[in-house]
Amino acid sequence: MKVLVIGAGNMGLTYSEGMAKSPLLNRKNLMIHDVSSDLLKKLDEVSYYDTFYNLEDCVADADVIFIAVKPYHSDDLFARMKPMLNDQQIIVSLMAGVTIENIQQGLDIKKVVRTMPNLPAKVGKGVTSYTESKEVSRVELLMIRNLLDTTGQSIRVKDEDFINKSTGISGSGPAYIFYFMASMLEAAKKMGFSDNDSKVLVSNTFEGAVSLFNESDLTPEKWMDRVASKGGTTRAALDSMDDNNVKQLIQDAAYAAFNRAVELGDE
Ligand SMILES: NC(=O)c1ccc[n+]([C@@H]2O[C@H](COP(=O)([O-])OP(=O)(O)OC[C@H]3O[C@@H](n4cnc5c(N)ncnc54)[C@H](OP(=O)(O)O)[C@@H]3O)[C@@H](O)[C@H]2O)c1
Repeated sequence: MKVLVIGAGNMGLTYSEGMAKSPLLNRKNLMIHDVSSDLLKKLDEVSYYDTFYNLEDCVADADVIFIAVKPYHSDDLFARMKPMLNDQQIIVSLMAGVTIENIQQGLDIKKVVRTMPNLPAKVGKGVTSYTESKEVSRVELLMIRNLLDTTGQSIRVKDEDFINKSTGISGSGPAYIFYFMASMLEAAKKMGFSDNDSKVLVSNTFEGAVSLFNESDLTPEKWMDRVASKGGTTRAALDSMDDNNVKQLIQDAAYAAFNRAVELGDE
């Protein structure tokens, strides 16, 4: 199997690195195309990949083509790629808001997997939601899933509405966690901790809580009950959050991202 990644930016390179380091692809089976020749020169130094400045030199050879350009570059890219494709090739789109139908029509191709990646893929802890057009076979889908899993875990969702919903939870989600972390860091500094101590306190608290959650069967509510005793300090903090409706505000934020994803898809 030969894979081509188009767009060697944040996401394209993240998935390329994941695939290159996995046993799934041998050297010479991962190709990268980008419009920046300087970027490609730098990638040549790493030597994991075969790099291509001209689309014509790589598209026809690929069985699977990951598209990782910004959505506003897609029309131009599709127009250039369309004459080079055949109907057995599979397109895997990492682009937010570009629908399967847009891709099928833009490229005159049938087999499309649409994904919603997230940023922790950079450190092998990403979660990618994906859904596919009906022409993608089970075997092909399994192969794509294995490729996606090289950056973390993936979940198959039943339709594109759930791709937009994933945007509200996991796609945009890392920023919600950073928001919470930034708020805790500010509180720690206001209390007088140094920058470094604040960072240690906050980052270990996050990492420790996530590990506890992952290594047990307990729900977050049960963990909160374990930490918060009646009349104690944690209860005071959780009551303050409940009084200020923080849970509802976080859910509103997730819905705001979901609704925006739907709007972008309609534009
Ligand atoms: N970053 C995230 O957290 C995230 C999360 C979910 C989904 N996504 C999706 O991932 C996709 C890529 O985002 P990104 O953050 O990785 O973007 P990026 O860092 O800007 O990377 C895109 C790369 O593609 C290049 N490019 C532009 N037009 C091209 C063309 N016609 N052919 C080949 N290469 C081309 C760009 O070059 P120039 O810089 O010269 O334009 C750039 O090097 C987007 O569609 C985005 O919606 C990103």
